[in-house]
Amino acid sequence: MMEKGYFITGTDTNAGKTWATIALMHYFKMQDKSVIGMKPVASGCFMMDGRLKNDDALLIQRNASLQIDYDLVNPYAYQLPVSPHIAGINNPVNLANIVGKFNDLKGLAEIVLVEGAGGWYAPLNDREAISDLAKALALPVILVVAIRLGCINHAKLTCEAIHHSGIACAGWIAVCTDPDMLSRDENIETLKTALNVPLLGVFPYLANANFGFLAEQLTL
Ligand SMILES: Nc1ncnc2c1ncn2[C@@H]1O[C@H](COP(=O)(O)OP(=O)(O)OP(=O)(O)O)[C@@H](O)[C@H]1O
Ligand SMILES: [Mg+2]
Repeated sequence: MMEKGYFITGTDTNAGKTWATIALMHYFKMQDKSVIGMKPVASGCFMMDGRLKNDDALLIQRNASLQIDYDLVNPYAYQLPVSPHIAGINNPVNLANIVGKFNDLKGLAEIVLVEGAGGWYAPLNDREAISDLAKALALPVILVVAIRLGCINHAKLTCEAIHHSGIACAGWIAVCTDPDMLSRDENIETLKTALNVPLLGVFPYLANANFGFLAEQLTL
């Protein structure tokens, strides 16, 4: 059933991965595709309906074109807002378990988006990182670059690391999370030549989320 899937990573935590994921969901829905998403590992969860849940996973669940069980969307929900390899010390991430759930999701919709956690080398357990999860899911990666001071270094390092992992990078999205960023356009221009993958869209700074508008900024 799945025609296309993407793994959404970022230059850092708080880079704009969730906003980009939801905008991508709207983008594909505008093309009359069925879309679902996953946030397989989430730190920083709260109790809701008798289990730990996370804001990113709830947003992904709510914006899907069909109803998906929370456990499929977010199999690892850790209470503490710290790195998963620490937050999950008593219930460590098992990649095979996530791959199994992802395979179930693949049967349900045309587009499946998976949001990572933190950046490319963020550790998930004592031996595996986000890069290993992307590889296990065999999905092309979309890199979300938060346009802030330091982003050129972060973006180049991440692109090289994705390439080193042997995974295809479908492109990058510029997300302007900082309203006071100086020389924003010049930075984006520099990134266009520095990164050897296509720019899929530029998200301007929005004081209030408007995912329909952000979806219109995308070209895949
Ligand atoms: N285009 C935008 N304009 C203004 N603020 C934005 C924009 N995109 C994202 N933000 C804000 O930046 C912050 C980080 O965004 P987001 O939650 O998407 O990052 P993330 O990479 O998913 O973070 P995490 O690592 O926690 O999953 C959020 O507070 C969000 O509200
Ligand atoms: Mg997020």
